[in-house]
Amino acid sequence: MLFFHLVQSFHVSALTGAVGGDSGTRKRPGGGGSLQWWREALFRYNFASVMNSFAAIADQTTADELRARGSQKWSKGGPGVIGAFVAEMDFGVAPPIEAALLEVIKRAEFGYLSQRAVDGMAAACAAWQRDRYGWDVDPGRVHPLPDVITGLSAAIRVFSRPGSPVILPTPAYMPFLTVPASLGREVIQVPMAGDGGRYVLDLDGIDAAFKRGGHLLILCNPSNPVGRVYSRAELAAVAEVVAANGGRVFADEIHAPLLYPGGTHIPYASLGEVTAAHTVTGTAASKGWNLPGLKCAQLVLSNDADEATWAEHGSTFEHGASTPGVHASTAAYLGGGPWLADAVAYLDGSRAFLAGLLAESLPEVGYRPPEGTYLAWLDCRDLFANGDRTAAPAAGVSPAEFFLAKARVLLTDGAACGEAGRGYVRLNFATPRPILAEIVRRMADAVSGR
Ligand SMILES: Cc1ncc(COP(=O)(O)O)c(C=O)c1O
Repeated sequence: MLFFHLVQSFHVSALTGAVGGDSGTRKRPGGGGSLQWWREALFRYNFASVMNSFAAIADQTTADELRARGSQKWSKGGPGVIGAFVAEMDFGVAPPIEAALLEVIKRAEFGYLSQRAVDGMAAACAAWQRDRYGWDVDPGRVHPLPDVITGLSAAIRVFSRPGSPVILPTPAYMPFLTVPASLGREVIQVPMAGDGGRYVLDLDGIDAAFKRGGHLLILCNPSNPVGRVYSRAELAAVAEVVAANGGRVFADEIHAPLLYPGGTHIPYASLGEVTAAHTVTGTAASKGWNLPGLKCAQLVLSNDADEATWAEHGSTFEHGASTPGVHASTAAYLGGGPWLADAVAYLDGSRAFLAGLLAESLPEVGYRPPEGTYLAWLDCRDLFANGDRTAAPAAGVSPAEFFLAKARVLLTDGAACGEAGRGYVRLNFATPRPILAEIVRRMADAVSGR
């Protein structure tokens, strides 16, 4: 309750003259680096014993401070636009990661990536998989990548039948549509089915796509953008279809750390020998701990044959993983648990907070809080059908384009996630709650023609 009041008061203080303007008065204390910011913020809000300091600091962070960080999320839309599109979080950095990066700077360790650093990351990633998800991964089969999308390219080029179409359940993360196409591969979109508003994989559709010649299935779990976290039974059913068709799977598990209470992440390759034999897993610390600019991810292989193939072809894909990124990822896996728990707790509150905001001011928008990820998948198809609404996009203007122009909120256009996403937007709610409230207020005002 106390927390709620605090959020309410921040709605007033943090938003006045800050969100939406470039000249807000609230500045990061001292204007120094983030370590100093954390220290000062923790000092000023030293009531961690009665409430979560992570939440207090998050709620206190203003749009001006976020813009000053200069990330793509807060700069792409231009002055006054709130970025809620790209999957980044607005919550700073976990202390163990910051410490690891400061050590890298102190040592001036900016050379090419050493085997020692890679081994440290592989061991840390394997330990995370084992301790968190019960997947016993051989660290020798954890390989560095600059990013997960490079892992997808590798899966297509190295592990799928040459020229074969790629099978993609949709709505899907946008590059899953564009990367195979850029490699000359057809993408067979398999729209997910809505099961009581909850998306489920269309197994018959996936089977048919294999029968059409598809070979590699992209399986994103937790799924971006729809936020599903698949159960063991669902994954086992997928495995049966893949195995029956002699297919392969690229398992993108980058969002696995971002799971809400009650959820369990089951690495697809960990199901058993069958999935281990046909899966290439891509993961990273970059979503859970917000490190995408540091360029580091992991490809986890789960059988000897793939390991042998990788020994021959892997180095070109591994190149580009950054030395600071590898150290930061190692620190995340080894010591980032407490910060992640705070971040997920905050996001858990935010996914519910968003439900309340939408119910109050945009009730026509369909929203089911995600089971994982900090992405909200908003069904806007009925939004403009209500006669009371005075504003509506012109023909051919997508909801995302409408909200950018009229609400100055930059969202992801659902159509970029595949045909099944048309009429939807993806909203990133990993932002301070006062800013989330401002996003929804702006969207509602835009729809009402204000
Ligand atoms: C499901 C999924 N895979 C991959 C990525 C991109 O990761 P990377 O920057 O490591 O390529 C994202 C980023 O949002 C994502 O959501």
